[in-house]
Amino acid sequence: MKYFITTFIFFTILFSTLSAGEWHIGPSSDCDDCHLQHSSEQGQQLPGGPYTYLLLKNSINELCLSCHDGSNPTAPDVLTPVDMYNTTESKESGAGWFAPAGENNIHGHSLGLSLLTPLQNSAKITELNCASCHAVHGNGNYRNLLYDPAGRGDSIALIDGMDIFTEHPPDKPPTSSGAVIAYNRGNIGYKAKYSRWCAACHDLLNSNNPSTPPAHFNGHPVDVALNEFFSDLHADPGHWTGGLGDGFINTPGATDGILRVPFESALATDFASSKLPQNSDRVFCGSCHKAHGGENQKSVLWPFREGGNNFVAGCQQCHNK
Ligand code: HEC
Ligand code: HEC
Ligand code: HEC
Ligand code: HEC
Ligand code: HEC
Ligand code: HEC
Repeated sequence: MKYFITTFIFFTILFSTLSAGEWHIGPSSDCDDCHLQHSSEQGQQLPGGPYTYLLLKNSINELCLSCHDGSNPTAPDVLTPVDMYNTTESKESGAGWFAPAGENNIHGHSLGLSLLTPLQNSAKITELNCASCHAVHGNGNYRNLLYDPAGRGDSIALIDGMDIFTEHPPDKPPTSSGAVIAYNRGNIGYKAKYSRWCAACHDLLNSNNPSTPPAHFNGHPVDVALNEFFSDLHADPGHWTGGLGDGFINTPGATDGILRVPFESALATDFASSKLPQNSDRVFCGSCHKAHGGENQKSVLWPFREGGNNFVAGCQQCHNK
């Protein structure tokens, strides 16, 4: 008990100075959401409990998904099927969705299975849960993302208002309509550092391995701008900023196309400027992948591996080949 009180005071002091709009942190970290002190409430023993760390559920995935599976309308749903964003333009959140824990998810990250980490030097076998990527007690990062997800001593700060911009903060206390507005993909603009965060685990992508400079790479480059290599340009900045034609949705006469893919705006100073398409925009992991997963194989934003309509839509937005 003493430990809990000390921890509580520690967290309260540590996080009370942080900006609003973050959940599971400081005053928004309601211990009862996730812990039960004696595995008994109103005289009722917690079925199967007590669990490690006095948690309400037997595993972290089960615990987090008990609210984030769509059953709690104020909690952003991250488990397929997700329909809470159907009224928004993209119909999805920033991160997208998972398959149930224990299922091999070919459409993104799999939860609760021991799998090899692809594109990692040490090719470690990892069993992913929510705490592999999120700080369960919150931290100062965007979405409480861990500073050091690979446990190698990184300290990657991804700060809302600096590296990422959001327009509408969630309601306090949380509401279902507020969660839709705050967490849908359209409410997020990117500026920097996201690729580095993903590449903490997928460290083979940590740098753009050059082949023949100035503009040849041994893997798709990230954090490179569309207009970066004037002498040997492979991208089509004009097509990208125009936003019409091959790859783009809403083009008169076109039958397919997708929403503009996310990009990092190196020049952004606020939400509005982060969303403004410019020649200097950079491609990053999130231009092609959802963080949790989505509709398509390998969590790609368009059906690149499936083929058919739109299978190169995202590529065409930047390259127009
Ligand atoms: C009791 C229900 C509940 C449980 C259990 C729960 N959450 Fe949440 N979570 C919420 C609600 C509600 C929100 C949205 C609050 C808002 O509108 O900002 C939220 C928001 C979040 C966010 C977005 C935070 C931000 O500031 O951007 C993350 C990330 C998150 N939860 C992760 C987790 C993880 C990881 C776990 C398990 C360790 C978990 N949640 C367990 C209810 C829950
Ligand atoms: C969103 C869910 C969630 C909330 C809210 C939450 N915890 Fe936790 N807590 C966890 C999880 C999950 C673990 C286990 C972490 C692990 O296994 O790595 C944990 C572990 C702990 C531990 C033991 C490990 C450590 O980090 O010291 C303490 C102590 C603790 N929590 C205290 C608290 C207190 C105090 C509060 C309220 C201020 C709180 N927790 C609120 C999810 C939560
Ligand atoms: C904590 C380490 C970790 C982080 C951080 C991480 N990944 Fe992964 N990733 C894994 C593991 C482990 C796998 C293999 C298991 C699986 O398929 O889920 C994987 C698999 C993948 C796959 C292949 C999925 C499939 O269907 O085969 C893609 C794509 C991917 N990650 C992209 C990303 C992106 C993009 C980010 C950043 C938003 C990211 N990863 C962050 C550990 C991580
Ligand atoms: C491989 C890393 C990874 C894992 C595992 C992971 N998350 Fe996330 N999560 C992210 C990233 C990165 C974002 C931010 C995506 C963005 O906005 O670009 C995010 C965003 C979120 C959000 C904000 C809403 C949204 O959909 O964008 C919530 C809530 C959330 N995660 C909850 C969870 C829960 C609950 C789990 C476990 C079931 C989990 N996450 C597992 C990386 C992860
Ligand atoms: C958000 C924009 C964006 C998207 C989406 C995108 N690319 Fe690129 N791509 C770039 C940029 C920027 C470069 C580097 C600039 C240059 O080489 O002129 C590049 C470089 C390349 C190169 C040249 C690599 C080299 O060695 O010179 C190829 C090939 C390529 N992309 C293929 C693709 C394919 C295939 C897709 C779809 C799966 C795709 N790109 C999606 C922006 C993008
Ligand atoms: C230009 C688009 C693009 C960018 C940028 C991109 N990826 Fe990918 N990635 C893909 C596609 C498409 C695949 C599917 C494999 C294929 O068919 O080429 C893939 C596959 C993967 C895989 C699975 C590899 C396997 O062995 O199954 C991982 C992991 C991955 N990407 C992580 C990342 C990370 C991390 C970043 C950022 C550092 C990133 N990707 C940037 C398009 C991209």
